[in-house]
Amino acid sequence: MGASWIDQAYRERNHCADVNKGQDGTEIYVLGWVFRYRDQGGLIFIDLRDRSGIVQLVFDRSEIQDQFDLASTIRSEFVLAVRGRVRLRDKEAINPNLKTGEVEILVQDFDILSKSQVLPFPLDEYADVGEETRLKFRYLDMRREELRDAMVMRSKLNQAIRAYLEEKNYLEVETPVLNKSTPEGARDFLVPARMAPGKFYALPQSPQIFKQLLMVGGLERYFQIVKCFRDEDFRADRQPEFTQLDMELSFVDENMVMDELEGLWANVLKKVFNVELKTPFARMSYHQAMEDYGSDRPDLRFEMKLVDVADIALRSNFGVFKKALEAGGRVKALCVPGGAKLSRKDIDELTHWVQTDFRAGGLAWLKHEKEGLKSVISKFFEPEQLEELAKATGSKEGDLILFGADKEYIVHATLGALRLRLAKQLGMIPENTYAVTWITDFPLFDRDENGELYSVHHPFTAPVDEDMPILEDADRFQKEGDKIRSRAYDLVINGSEVGGGSIRIHRFEAQMTVLNALGISKEDAEDRFGFLLNALRFGAPPHGGIAFGLDRVMMLFMDRDSIRDVIAFPKTQRGTCLMSDSPSTVEIKQLQELRLRSLAGGSGS
Ligand code: AMO
Ligand code: AMP
Repeated sequence: MGASWIDQAYRERNHCADVNKGQDGTEIYVLGWVFRYRDQGGLIFIDLRDRSGIVQLVFDRSEIQDQFDLASTIRSEFVLAVRGRVRLRDKEAINPNLKTGEVEILVQDFDILSKSQVLPFPLDEYADVGEETRLKFRYLDMRREELRDAMVMRSKLNQAIRAYLEEKNYLEVETPVLNKSTPEGARDFLVPARMAPGKFYALPQSPQIFKQLLMVGGLERYFQIVKCFRDEDFRADRQPEFTQLDMELSFVDENMVMDELEGLWANVLKKVFNVELKTPFARMSYHQAMEDYGSDRPDLRFEMKLVDVADIALRSNFGVFKKALEAGGRVKALCVPGGAKLSRKDIDELTHWVQTDFRAGGLAWLKHEKEGLKSVISKFFEPEQLEELAKATGSKEGDLILFGADKEYIVHATLGALRLRLAKQLGMIPENTYAVTWITDFPLFDRDENGELYSVHHPFTAPVDEDMPILEDADRFQKEGDKIRSRAYDLVINGSEVGGGSIRIHRFEAQMTVLNALGISKEDAEDRFGFLLNALRFGAPPHGGIAFGLDRVMMLFMDRDSIRDVIAFPKTQRGTCLMSDSPSTVEIKQLQELRLRSLAGGSGS
């Protein structure tokens, strides 16, 4: 071992997938991992794999003689250096599915650079491998095409973004990771400060305050591809640490920001994924999105709009509907094309789901049969009213109409979720299409279940100027607070919130008014983000920005089901890393240095 030509092989290597017919008869070097091997007595065939792909090696006893015995000890995932001669494969051995399927390398000399134990899972039958195992051995999973492709594309995406923004005069600026808490509405991850016992840094939920300070600092156009940290409950499209493309611009209004970003995505997605997005992107108000789709991130790849049927419901004899309306709620319907084939049991299951997950009172329904709309509730409607319902919802024979009759937010949540679930179940979502829309005119505040107002975005989002008077009057605010429009916008693709941003408040007085309305006292505000408030006193330019979830962008355009499939080293839904086994306990000495005591037990307690 340790052949003399190895150094040369490193320098002059051919990447496996680049070996081609034009090299027939020439001697080349390849380096990589043994993917598959077949031992046929005097001949051994090996598929050698490097990052580029695969090429077939042939070990022939008559060529390599003494070394042949060593060759027969080679196993999967050994790392090899090979010197060999390219030759054309026999006709019947050509593999049309492989880029290098017409050639092979007749090995002249080789070296085993590294051996491998039998892997915990086979790389070419990954479909059966559970995600836990793949996460535990992430570096092995990475040798598979799926994850490797995701990493390659992710790198290309980052490079394309940087190239485009550099061209447009943006500055890439790094903001600190050890921070004071930035309000984005999630829980902070905290880091104890050894030098200041009892005090903590917060990891950034986003660089929001810092990017605004960069604008006050006069940098005018900023971007950063940056890790953000949020201690939330994780779902398929969320991670405790995730990557944002974070941006901020000075002297802009919302239309300029949206136009600018459409240019970015149209360019980058074409370059990296060869996807053509039509510009300008569609724009839809928050109100419209909620009314039509029951969601502020509607999947617009298919229709199925919610329809208000309060008018018909009021004239009917159906107590459930009338009660909901009398209590100030809504009655809306969703026509599910072809939904009449759902069984009673299916509908019972859906009913149980909306009752437990969305606290809906129930799920009334009508099937559109040959004779018209039918179910246990049809008796509460006059025949003309049933016809009106069919007309209003556009239902045809074979369809199913589902009803929500509750407080508005419950009706929207319920029917919005049913719309998605049934479209998926009934195969109504077209593949390989991208339905892109901006959602605009978000309310600045929403009401929780108890009617209390809370801010939809972070508290630096600017209200629409005309709505400022509502903020300045405590009584009006309590009554009309949810009417205040914000200058925020989200980018939604195929029902996924890919990005969100806003024009910011750039005047000190306006910022204090909003904080006051939010119930954040002057002292509290000074304590939490006094440094931003101070900056607003020193000539802050009008500014605004946005942040995109790059993991979500990758997930969408790589067509993966989970955000974990496009992240090199992701965490599980419980926020753990199965590979390194973090989070973990620490030594008691470390806790002592930090003047901390663990109440939870473990080795650090
Ligand atoms: P926002 O909170 O909307 O805005 O975040 C921006 C985008 O980041 C993505 N995202 C996530 N991706 C994965 N896992 C998570 N836990 C997660 N949380 C958010 C989403 C989201 O649209 N500072 C503001 C932006 C601004 O106003 O400029 C912010 O962070 O795709
Ligand atoms: P009930 O009168 O409670 O027997 O309900 C009759 C039908 O209306 C059943 O299909 C219920 O699931 C449905 N229903 C009850 N409450 C609601 C509601 N708030 N919204 C929609 N449907 C409901």
